[in-house]
Amino acid sequence: MKIIRSIQELRDQLRGQNRAAFVPTMGNLHEGHLSLLRLAHQHGDPVIASIFVNRLQFGPKEDFDQYPRTFEADLEKLRQENVYVLFAPRESDLYPEPQHYRIQPPNGISSILEGEFRPDYFQGMCTVVMKLFGCVQPRTAVFGKKDYQQLMIVRAMSQQFALPTEIIAAETVRAEDGLALSSRNIYLSSAERAEAPRLFKTLSDLRHKILAEKRSDFATLEQEAVAQLSAHGWEPQYIAIRKQVDLQAPATHETNEPLVAVAAAKLGATRLIDNLEI
Ligand code: PAJ
Repeated sequence: MKIIRSIQELRDQLRGQNRAAFVPTMGNLHEGHLSLLRLAHQHGDPVIASIFVNRLQFGPKEDFDQYPRTFEADLEKLRQENVYVLFAPRESDLYPEPQHYRIQPPNGISSILEGEFRPDYFQGMCTVVMKLFGCVQPRTAVFGKKDYQQLMIVRAMSQQFALPTEIIAAETVRAEDGLALSSRNIYLSSAERAEAPRLFKTLSDLRHKILAEKRSDFATLEQEAVAQLSAHGWEPQYIAIRKQVDLQAPATHETNEPLVAVAAAKLGATRLIDNLEI
C-alpha cells in the first residue's frame, strides 16, 4: 500500500486508473469502515482510501482537537484490506490556502436533523468530499448508511454536479449489543457504553410499533421514544420518523412510503447518532 500526502503525487500514482473505488474516512478505523472497503472491492479496482480529519465540518465547540487519531493502527487495517493507495493529506496539502469556495447543499436537506444541530457540518463535509473526489477521481465511492443524511446529500451532490462518481451505500455495522460502531464510541465511559445500546433499542421499538402494531401516530411515537431515552439519562436532540426518499416528515396519506427512524442523542458528553429503516 502506498501512503500519499500530496495531491500531485496522488494524480501521478493514479494516472490511467478509471475504475477506482474510493472510501473516504476520518480515520480511527473500525469494522464499519472496513466493511466499506470490502464493498468497494466489489465495485471497482483499485480501492483507494483516505484519512483526513476535516476541520471545515466541525463546529467551533465540537471535538476537532480531541477526535481520535490512530494512524499507525489504521495503516495495518488498510493493508489487510488490500487498499492500493491511502491518501492521507496534511491540512496544508489539502488546504494550502483558506478554502474560500465551498459546496452549500440546499437548505431543505442541510438544515434539518443533523443540520439543525450541526449548522456547519454539511457544507464542510460536501466541500471536502468534492475536493477528495477531485483528487481521486473515483468511478465509485462508498458511504455508510450510519450517516444517513450525509449519504443522501453526497448522492444528490454527485448527481446535481454530474460527477462521474457513483455513490454506493453500505449497511451499518453494529456491536453485538446493537450499538452502531463509531469512532466517537471511545469517548464513552464503561457505564455509558453499557447504556449506549438503548439508542438502537429505541429505534427498533419504533420500528416494531409501526410494522407489527400498525401504529401511524408518528408524533406520539416520537415523543414516546424521546421519553424512553430521557428516562435513562439521555439528552435526545431529535428522534424522527421520516421518508427515506428525502428525510421529510411523511404526510398523513404517505404512510406507505418507505420510512426511516433517525435519532441523535447525547449520553453524558458524547453525541451518538443512529437510524433504522422501517
Ligand atoms: P467517518 O466518520 O470516518 O466515516 C467514514 C465512512 O464510514 C462514512 O461513510 C460513514 O458513514 C461510514 N461509517 C461509520 N461508521 C459506520 C458503521 N458503523 N457502519 C457502516 N459504515 C460506517 O463520515 C465521515 O468520516 C466524514 O464525514 C467524511 C465522509 C470522510 C468527510 O470528511
